[in-house]
Amino acid sequence: MTTITTNMNMSDAFDRIVDLPPVITGAFEPVIEELDISNLEVIGKVPEDLNGAYFRNGPNRKFAAEGRYHWYDGDGMIHAAYFEKGKVRYKNRWIQTSPFKEEVNAGHALWQGLQEAPRADRPDMPLKNTSNTDVVFHNGKLLTMWYLAGGMYHVDPFTLETLGTASFEGAPDLHASAHSKVDERTGDLLFFDYGKTAPYMHYGVIGRDGKLKHKIPVELPGPRLPHDMAVTENFTVLHDFPLFYDQDALAAGRHKLKFHAQMPSRFAVVPRYGKPEAIKWFEAKPNYMLHVANAWEEGDEIVMIGTPFRIPRDLAGNIEAEKFAKMWSIMYRDFLYYEWRFNLSTGKTTERIVDDVFCSEFPMINSSYMGFKTRYSYNITMVRESYKQPRFAGLIKYDLQKGVAQAWSEGRDFFYSEAPFAPADNPQSEDHGYLVSFVWNAREKRSELQVFDARNFGGGPMAQIILPNKVPPGFHATWVNSDRLKRGW
Ligand SMILES: [Fe+2]
Repeated sequence: MTTITTNMNMSDAFDRIVDLPPVITGAFEPVIEELDISNLEVIGKVPEDLNGAYFRNGPNRKFAAEGRYHWYDGDGMIHAAYFEKGKVRYKNRWIQTSPFKEEVNAGHALWQGLQEAPRADRPDMPLKNTSNTDVVFHNGKLLTMWYLAGGMYHVDPFTLETLGTASFEGAPDLHASAHSKVDERTGDLLFFDYGKTAPYMHYGVIGRDGKLKHKIPVELPGPRLPHDMAVTENFTVLHDFPLFYDQDALAAGRHKLKFHAQMPSRFAVVPRYGKPEAIKWFEAKPNYMLHVANAWEEGDEIVMIGTPFRIPRDLAGNIEAEKFAKMWSIMYRDFLYYEWRFNLSTGKTTERIVDDVFCSEFPMINSSYMGFKTRYSYNITMVRESYKQPRFAGLIKYDLQKGVAQAWSEGRDFFYSEAPFAPADNPQSEDHGYLVSFVWNAREKRSELQVFDARNFGGGPMAQIILPNKVPPGFHATWVNSDRLKRGW
């Protein structure tokens, strides 16, 4: 993998040492207002063939709680930007989860953060399900999700009003994890759920009409911490990585992460509507990955690409398991771009590094190609060692066919958000469209909404839409084009 261009303001990147504040101050300070803003000032030009909406979820604490605060603790808030024929409107609303409403009614926090003890008096909700992690569009509504799995929430895509806990015909109390995915070709919502009791994982499909089509148990050897799943045209890949809670500590009520370096990574490949006995398990090198970029079928093989951690090794080449578990806990970021191939005929896995030069994560593709071979992905470049204040440092476009990448960064004053690909009206190719990202510009002390031409990526933003309010950095985002918004799936 070769880099063609980078666009970094070198003096800004290297001439200042900044004492980074934690994840509740500065760029990360929560906002308190819910706003609807139009007639925004634009530097450059918003393309008229960019029509649809950008939705980004993220943590935004309403009430301060006793104890330590972790970035993952904040109450979910959706920030949305609606694009219509060159005009843009902005809107933000908290996700009114049931614990959020309990706290609003009480007028103060009722749950502490995930680094403090869970609530023993609330077995129904020992930790606050903030629904702050992910957002997709399914059956005419936004669906918000939490990385620890739990009830999902339905949100109106136009008003951002929370409609309530997501309930489906055949699955009224469905729990699912962040990174449950929508197949835009069929409207299926493919979900997974995981927990601390056997069988430890479930997988299933909700149709585009909101009815449960399929649900099976996926038996794991114990409680695990899967974060994502992969979807091809006909198969789903579920993850069992050897980074999970220390069993002795868990029995004593403590959550201590342990990397089991002698255990393989395991992947369950299951036909989309397959029964438990149709699951084929594949083993690979020990690893941990948060996010999949895409997966597809090639002959007898299922190909999955994503951004696993670079596992630390000592000078003799041995895995440093304790160091890795610690790195994960403190949000140390060091990632590879990686490919696994699962051969359905032989049962063998092959794997390779796609790129070990750039450190990138939060990979996005043209989502209408999910499950099919993609040439391009658009990732966020990450700063290694960003402990107190994780900075999404820039954007990088990979051309996986040519084996080249283009990166864009303006230096350490800029905090990007996950930047989904937004197709142009009547797209002529996979990368005919735009990338859209909320950006905290610390140089000007303002939030912006930046639009990039996905085919001329190294040229920087073609439009900077100046926001009068702050949009703190957050987690996952989705683009829904105007046709899908109208159609409902
Ligand atoms: Fe995630």
